[in-house]
Amino acid sequence: MDTHLSQVWFELTDLQVAHGAGAVITTVDGTDYLDLTSGIGVVNTGHCHPRVVEAIREQAGRFIHAQVNCYRHDLLEPLAQRLAEISPPGIEQFFFANSGAEATEAAVKLAKQATGRPNVVVFQGSFHGRTHLTMAMTTSKTVFRAGHAPLPSGVFVAPFPVTFLTAEDEDVAIDRCLREFDLLLATQTAPSETAAVMIEPVLGEGGYVPAPRRFLHGLAERCAQHGILFVADEVQTGFGRTGRMFATDHHDLTPDVVVLAKGIASGFPMSAVGASADLMNRWPVGSHGGTYGGNPMACAAALATLDIMTETEFLPRAAEVGARFRTGLDEIATRFRAIGENRNLGAMLASEIVDDEGCPDPARTAAIMRHLLVEEHVVVMSCGPYGSTLRWIPPLVISDEQIDHALASLDRALIATA
Ligand SMILES: Cc1ncc(COP(=O)(O)O)c(C=O)c1O
Repeated sequence: MDTHLSQVWFELTDLQVAHGAGAVITTVDGTDYLDLTSGIGVVNTGHCHPRVVEAIREQAGRFIHAQVNCYRHDLLEPLAQRLAEISPPGIEQFFFANSGAEATEAAVKLAKQATGRPNVVVFQGSFHGRTHLTMAMTTSKTVFRAGHAPLPSGVFVAPFPVTFLTAEDEDVAIDRCLREFDLLLATQTAPSETAAVMIEPVLGEGGYVPAPRRFLHGLAERCAQHGILFVADEVQTGFGRTGRMFATDHHDLTPDVVVLAKGIASGFPMSAVGASADLMNRWPVGSHGGTYGGNPMACAAALATLDIMTETEFLPRAAEVGARFRTGLDEIATRFRAIGENRNLGAMLASEIVDDEGCPDPARTAAIMRHLLVEEHVVVMSCGPYGSTLRWIPPLVISDEQIDHALASLDRALIATA
């Protein structure tokens, strides 16, 4: 044993980092790396944005912990109000927690209480967290579930149109998935027993697959028809990641419940569940809560994050980042057959790495990531069921030069690993 840390954490790199600024992280030996993970889609405003740092510093001198059940601190209401202003229409009130899993699970608790129904429908390839309930709602990879049975019941899995894997035309895939959703309600969980449908507007861990607009609207219509709550898990897609504040904004969707985390506070642990006052009022007082939810330092970080995103040209720039990256990836794909497909919604980008037969190639993906890390000092993650999807999640403050450097590095990595 050479460590007192649990080995349960999967390690993407062995980097020991000392500090970060913008899109760059610096190791303890002083080497800079371009961070295209954003700490798994969290530091959308970049590492240590000066306004976020200052807000946390100032708040630390006033109140570090003000427990919500005991008393209310002065940033709670302003933050809830700001979130209501930027959220889809009808989302009026917020419950605060600490992690994405806590919030997705809280959203299910709210839906059960508000509807009096027991079940939830999720989608093949989804990732909603690692607690027992959210593990049962997660089907992006078996490793997240294996060995943990029995998982909670009341979770039903419907298909998600992933055309890259099924080689279907998109319209055909959408029609098939909506038909199978209807079949699920007819055969496994009756509408009268279904509290909520939870969906990631862009499948995250499952492979960075944007949900087609017609699919999302088809689901929302069915939910409205049956009194099922439509819950958008915007944990990874929120706060500018897709070039809009939320991914649902691209589709004029009005979810009944939204789940927020990751980018909300630029790295300070915080998450939120948003819904109408009517729904929130059906959540019995005291039936949910938590020691740290609504922590004042997290609220300060979130308010500073929202200031950055609303007072500057942050969102248009996020869209530009996604477009520039995508153009570069598409140009590279014309020269390398190993890139089977590029996809994106804003700056949530994916490249499918395939072998000569066009099948997922996890070994090549790992070799490319290794080359990028060791030779180019560019940190990149993979995702997707076979670990063969390179996912590009740059901090949204990344410069054009840094994007071009990342693309040139990918070019060299594809040559080196051929
Ligand atoms: C869409 C989505 N929902 C929920 C979660 C769980 O968030 P956390 O890891 O903060 O519990 C994640 C984490 O990656 C996610 O991407």
